[in-house]
Amino acid sequence: MALSIKHLLGLDGVSREDIQEILDTAVTFREVIERPIKKVPTLQGKTVVNLFYENSTRTRISFELAERRLSADSLNFSVSTSSVTKGESFKDTVRNIEAMKVDMIVVRHASAGVPQYLTRISGSKIINAGDGTHEHPTQGLLDMYSIREKLGHLEGVRVCIVGDISHSRVALSNIYGLTTMGAKVSVCGPATMIPPFIKELGVDVYYNIDDAIQANDVLNVLRIQLERKAREYFPSIREYQKFYGIDTQRLEKNKKDVLILHPGPINRGVELSAEVADGEHQVILDQVTNGVAVRMAVLFLLGTQN
Ligand code: CP
Repeated sequence: MALSIKHLLGLDGVSREDIQEILDTAVTFREVIERPIKKVPTLQGKTVVNLFYENSTRTRISFELAERRLSADSLNFSVSTSSVTKGESFKDTVRNIEAMKVDMIVVRHASAGVPQYLTRISGSKIINAGDGTHEHPTQGLLDMYSIREKLGHLEGVRVCIVGDISHSRVALSNIYGLTTMGAKVSVCGPATMIPPFIKELGVDVYYNIDDAIQANDVLNVLRIQLERKAREYFPSIREYQKFYGIDTQRLEKNKKDVLILHPGPINRGVELSAEVADGEHQVILDQVTNGVAVRMAVLFLLGTQN
C-alpha cells in the first residue's frame, strides 16, 4: 500500500494506516538484515544524501546502512568538511547538491522546521532525521516497532516517556505516533522539564518516578541533553539521578516487568544505572537493530512512490 505522505517530516498528523504500513513493511526488512547477504535491489539507481548539520552516531549510520542494503547510492554530507565552513548558506548548499541529481535527502539540523523548509526549496523526497527540539520521526517509529515486537501490540499499551521532555524531539514523535496507534501515553520528569502544553496532546503527567513505574508497561527513558543547557533545569546531576534515575533498586521496589527503552546516547549513572542499561528489562540494542529495518521501510515506501 502506498503511503499518503510524500515526505516524512514528523509523526504529527501521520495516519494510523501509514504508521501501520511502515511498521509492517519493516518486519520484512528486519528479516532481510538477518540474512547472510543483507541486501535487496529495491532502490537501485536512486541516490540518497544524508545531510547532517548535527552530530549523530545511530541515526546517520543506520540511514546509511539502510540505504546501502536497499542498493541505493548513499552520500554523506558533514558540515565540518564542507563549504559551509567557508560561509556557504544552507539554501545554496542544498541547491548545489540537488544539481548533482539526487532523489532523497535525509536531514538532521539543530533548527526546528528545516525539513519542512527543504520541501519548499528542493524537489527531493525529504526525511527528517531530527530537527532541533521538534521531531525525530524515525526514532518514534523504531520505538513503536520495538514495543510492538516485545509486547505484540501497541493498542492500550501504557507508555511513559521519562526525563527531559521540553528539549526532546524523541518525546514529541513518540507522543504523536503512540497516541495515533492507540497507546496510553504519559510523561514523567521534573516540572521544569515538562512543557505546559503537554496535556493538550492527550498525555498524563507524573512528577514521581515510582508512581510512573507502577502505572506503566513501558518506560522510554530520555537522555538529559546537557548540550541543550538541560543542566539549568535542576539543581544538580546527583539530584536528578536520585529523583528520576532508574536503577535496579527502584525497579524492584515498584514493578519488575516494566520494559525499558532509551533512544541513546545514554548518560550512564544519570537517567539509567549501568546495571539497568545492560540488564534484562531493556531493549536498547534491539531498538538500534530495528532502526535499520524501520529506516529501510521508510526509504523504500517513500522512494518508490511518485
Ligand atoms: N537516537 C539518536 O538520534 O541518536 P544519535 O544522535 O546518535 O543519532
